Amino acid sequence: MKVLVATDKPFAKVAIDQIREVTDAADMELVLLEKYGTKDNLLKAVADADAMIVRSDIIDAEVLDAAKQLKIVVRAGAGYDNIDLAAATAHGVCVMNTPGQNSNAVAELVFGLLVYTVRNYYNGTSGTELKGKRLGIHAYGNVGRNVARIAKGFGMEIYAYDAFCPKEVIENDGVKAVASAGELYKCCDIVSLHIPATAETKNSIGRALVANLPKGGILVNTARKEVINEPELISLMEERPDLRYVTDIMPAAHQEFCDKFPGRYFSTPKKMGAQTAEANINAGIAAARQIVAFIKDGCDKFRVNK
Ligand code: 3PG
Repeated sequence: MKVLVATDKPFAKVAIDQIREVTDAADMELVLLEKYGTKDNLLKAVADADAMIVRSDIIDAEVLDAAKQLKIVVRAGAGYDNIDLAAATAHGVCVMNTPGQNSNAVAELVFGLLVYTVRNYYNGTSGTELKGKRLGIHAYGNVGRNVARIAKGFGMEIYAYDAFCPKEVIENDGVKAVASAGELYKCCDIVSLHIPATAETKNSIGRALVANLPKGGILVNTARKEVINEPELISLMEERPDLRYVTDIMPAAHQEFCDKFPGRYFSTPKKMGAQTAEANINAGIAAARQIVAFIKDGCDKFRVNK
């Protein structure tokens, strides 16, 4: 039984060691394919894999076709928009994610990005503080909740909007629930995005929402680049020299953002949200355990395809 870890962006070594302990104990062979670069390398490596652990690696119909023995693929992380679920189902492959396992890491990075932004990228000039500012959390899932917890420590006023999370759950955390996304952007100085990339959310963050931000507003994105309507955000930022955009997912139009908005735009060079030893260990071990439970006992908790 071969478990392939196919991660173009590798886990920390300490996480691999702990994943290996789980697969060894289950008499499974662990094979590593890290920084594989081209899809061809991935296609070759999946040929004899029974199970796979991936991150943002693209698992499309071609990869699934090449993975003749594959029974399960676990996305060690939250978002599974990189996996073709319909193709997986058609190939009889179970797809799972590991919800919550890397959410603290992503939430901490939100504040890393925000402090860097409000202190003017540490350029020596006077910036502002987060204390007392109104933070809007757009989608109150595992990451959103951690963002709220940390924001309390900064002394921020916290608001959230989530179409699917009951108001009581949000308010129990001492966070003000608002009734619409538009209202969230209107009443907050900073909005932090935590929506998944789905057919409904792709391109959904554009002019109509972001224009609601008050003067000096900041949009921070540690979710997905696909949720942003980049042309609309660019034209809005051209009209509104007070707005800033900071992201952990480099936009397709990165160079245009850099050229047009110096001092108002920052992107990490590579998505770093979940790139901590702790997140790698938590998500990696969860993925390995879910594979063992599925192969040995047929347990499909956390399955995301039908
Ligand atoms: C997730 O969906 O879990 C995060 O975006 C982290 O993605 P990564 O594993 O590619 O860093």
